[in-house]
Amino acid sequence: MKILILFGSMTGNAEDCAHQLGARLESEGHDVSVEDMADVTPDRLKEEKTVFVSISTWGDGDPPDCIEGIWEGVVEEANFDLSHIQYSVLALGDTAYEKFCEAGKAIDAAFEKQGAKRIIDRVDCDVYYDDDVEKWINSVSGTLEANAPAMN
Ligand SMILES: Cc1cc2nc3c(=O)[nH]c(=O)nc-3n(C[C@H](O)[C@H](O)[C@H](O)COP(=O)(O)O)c2cc1C
Repeated sequence: MKILILFGSMTGNAEDCAHQLGARLESEGHDVSVEDMADVTPDRLKEEKTVFVSISTWGDGDPPDCIEGIWEGVVEEANFDLSHIQYSVLALGDTAYEKFCEAGKAIDAAFEKQGAKRIIDRVDCDVYYDDDVEKWINSVSGTLEANAPAMN
């Protein structure tokens, strides 16, 4: 299956998680592209049916600085038709901040609002995130495998 994995990351954590998922899905035979949200426009989503997002939160509940382009379109304007997309979000953050994982929560809600189908619940990660990331990756892998005939 063709899969787009997007990351929004400032210091590389969400990027690493995206590549971990990418390596796993590639090893399972999928055609995976891992891309920085900073380099992607909303139009890119027209071509994709299966999208996973790994994103951190910065500032006071804000997305990473460099991803403003896609953020404005997909989260703030939010008037695209994403009903052809199935997706899941991995949110990285820190419970020491009041707006814990806010960017991940916002993009998850925005995808749903524009008609995309959430196939795995969002996972919100605190600073020690390895176990939660592993669980999310296992869920993604298991769900794709279980639904493979219907999704291809
Ligand atoms: C200055 C600063 C602001 C942050 N603001 C938030 C925040 O508002 N909410 C949150 O959940 N995490 C916040 N974090 C935690 C980061 O999201 C967390 O460290 C994450 O793992 C960074 O991932 P990245 O390297 O992919 O950007 C903040 C971290 C820093 C250093």
